[in-house]
Amino acid sequence: TALTACGSDSGSDSEGSITLGFSQVGAESGWRTANTKSIQDSAKKAGIELKFSDAQQKQENQIAAIRSFIKQKVDVIGFSPVVVTGWDAVLKEAKAADIPVVLTDRAVDSDPSLYVTFLGSDFVEEGRKAGQWLVDQYKDGADPVNIVQLEGTVGSAPAIDRKKGFEEVIGANPNLKVIASQSGDFTRAKGKEVMQALLKAHKDIDVLFAHNDDMGLGAMQAVEEAGLKPGEDIKIVTIDAVKDGMQALADGRFNFIVECSPLLGDQLMDVAKKIDAGEDVDKRIVTVETVFDQAAAKEALPTRQY
Ligand code: AHR
Repeated sequence: TALTACGSDSGSDSEGSITLGFSQVGAESGWRTANTKSIQDSAKKAGIELKFSDAQQKQENQIAAIRSFIKQKVDVIGFSPVVVTGWDAVLKEAKAADIPVVLTDRAVDSDPSLYVTFLGSDFVEEGRKAGQWLVDQYKDGADPVNIVQLEGTVGSAPAIDRKKGFEEVIGANPNLKVIASQSGDFTRAKGKEVMQALLKAHKDIDVLFAHNDDMGLGAMQAVEEAGLKPGEDIKIVTIDAVKDGMQALADGRFNFIVECSPLLGDQLMDVAKKIDAGEDVDKRIVTVETVFDQAAAKEALPTRQY
C-alpha cells in the first residue's frame, strides 16, 4: 500500500498518484495563512497533487469548488467549511461520485456518513481553557469583571464552540460578566472596528476575549488609540498563538493565548494516503494543543514557525 513520491502503485489513476482537491476558507487571518502553507508544503513533500481553491470566506465559492473537484474526478476532497450548516447537497454529490471527503479544521452538521473523517482542534475545549484562565485570575476578587467578547465568523464552528466553552467555564464565577459579544469575522480590521464601537459604548471594560489573535491585535490598536494600556487597563485573552499574537503576549500587551494549531498538512496527507490505500482512518482526529502565558510566549517566540 506504500506510495512513492510519484505514486507508482496506488492505482487511483493512470499514473497512480493521488490528486487532492482542497477548498480553503480564505485568507482571513495569520492562522489561515499558516494553515494554507502547511497544506501546500505537506502535499509537495508527500508527492500528492494538490488542487487548491480559496473561497474568500464565502460558502457558495466552497460549494462551487467542491463541485468542480467532483467534475475533475479528484481522488480525495478536503475542505475547511466556512460555516457549519448547508453542506448536505454537495456532500451527497461527492458520495454519489464515490469521492471520499475529509473535513479539516472546522466541522459541519451533516450526517457523518457523508465524510470519512474530521481532522482538527476541539474548539469547545479552547474556549474552556480561555475561560479557565479568567476564573483563576479573578478567583480572589469580589468586584464584577466586565468582559467583552469578539466572536469569529457568524455560524462557523470555532465561533459557536469557543463561545460555548468560554461561557460554560466563566459561569462558575458570578463576578465574571460578558457585557457585550459581537462578531469581528476573524479579521484584524473588523476586530479593530468592533472594539472601537465597544469602547465608546462601555467605559468599564476589564477584559477582552477575542476568538482569534488577529481580532485581538486589531482590538489592541483600538485600545491604544483610546489612550488605554492593553494588557493592563484591559486584559486581552485570545486563541491561535500565531507569531504576531505571541509577540504581543511577550510584550505584555496580551495576557494569555490558547493555542490552535494550523499545522494540519502532514496529517491531512497521511489520511489521504490511507483512504487511497483502502485503510481505515479514525472518524475524529483531534489536534494536540497547549496554552501560553507571557513567560511561555517569550520562551517560545524565537523558534515559532508561523
Ligand atoms: O478555524 C480556525 C480559525 O479560523 C482560527 O482560529 C482563526 O484565526 C481562523 O480564521
